[in-house]
Amino acid sequence: MKPRSVFAKAFHGKRVLITGGLGFIGANLARRLVALGAKVTLVDSLIPEYGGNMRNIAGLEKKLRVNISDVRNHHSLPALLKGEHFLFNLAGQTSHMDSMTDPETDLEINCRAQLAILEACRKHNPRLRVVFASTRQIYGRPDYLPVDEKHPLRPVDVNGINKLAGEEYHLLYSDVHGVPSTVLRLTNTIGPRMRVKDARQTFVGIWLKQILSGDAIEVWGGEQLRDFTYVDDAVDAFLVAATQPGAVGQVYNLGGVGCISLRDLAALLVEVAGQGSYRVRQFPADRRKIDIGDYYSDCRLIGGIGWQPVTSIRTALVKTVAYYRKELRHYL
Ligand SMILES: NC(=O)c1ccc[n+]([C@@H]2O[C@H](COP(=O)([O-])OP(=O)(O)OC[C@H]3O[C@@H](n4cnc5c(N)ncnc54)[C@H](O)[C@@H]3O)[C@@H](O)[C@H]2O)c1
Repeated sequence: MKPRSVFAKAFHGKRVLITGGLGFIGANLARRLVALGAKVTLVDSLIPEYGGNMRNIAGLEKKLRVNISDVRNHHSLPALLKGEHFLFNLAGQTSHMDSMTDPETDLEINCRAQLAILEACRKHNPRLRVVFASTRQIYGRPDYLPVDEKHPLRPVDVNGINKLAGEEYHLLYSDVHGVPSTVLRLTNTIGPRMRVKDARQTFVGIWLKQILSGDAIEVWGGEQLRDFTYVDDAVDAFLVAATQPGAVGQVYNLGGVGCISLRDLAALLVEVAGQGSYRVRQFPADRRKIDIGDYYSDCRLIGGIGWQPVTSIRTALVKTVAYYRKELRHYL
């Protein structure tokens, strides 16, 4: 985590809106911004299948404003955006499987609502500094590793297509309408406050729940390589992107410290937790169709504006396990 002094000047006393602010990454970002002295408002629909959870802001309730509303409700957007200095736009449907069984909802949230948010920015607050949370899913199955920002974009599921549209809207509104926006393509992000009820946000969530409940976890395939960003590092990336003038109109990959196979990740999680076990099984047919195989990112480009991941996978797991040992019951 970058020292407080790096960002205090940029955010102290500033008005910051976070869509999806009760979710995993949004709430961790909110915690940092409140600590930096920002005036934070969270917008979140708290749809039960998604990662929003009031527990994520425990202890902060009096230090920020929470607006329970849906970004698909276009009428509420102008009032929410007026007077804000920063918009961290994280509201999203994150499940790849759900996007295949209910593509319309994914379209409404990850595509249409994004356009509406940007239209509201253009009309009511065009100087608002915007950072959008995109995903590495838009690359599809990598042609080469590590994947850099020049890699072809070939999403393998509806979620990837809609997130790609979302990021293109942000870049267009930045270029053409001057709404200063930056796109971050996140890879698997883990840490305290992630959804562990099921695998909708990340398979690591359900693994953690099962391990802490003393159950065996299932690893599908096991040889696939992945990189993981610890959530504090991801929060740093959002703050860096929002404050570097050179980041306007740019797209950056986030990444992790090294990469790991899913089998090794499962073994490490069992070791760190000191309980549970894992077994490897064949990849289920419906998942295989939208699986991207190996992925890890080349995130050197964002290094140019001062960000790099610093938390190892082991440290990320240690901190995450420690959090859920105390908090698991609030996330079930
Ligand atoms: N966690 C990851 O590994 C990861 C990877 C790539 C991209 N991302 C992106 O980062 C963003 C945040 O993800 P997260 O991991 O914190 O997930 P999350 O589900 O915890 O957070 C998303 C939040 O958005 C809210 N939301 C969803 N639809 C909404 C709507 N219509 N109106 C208002 N609020 C709505 C949800 O209630 C939830 O609190 C998402 O846009 C996601 O696509 C995350």
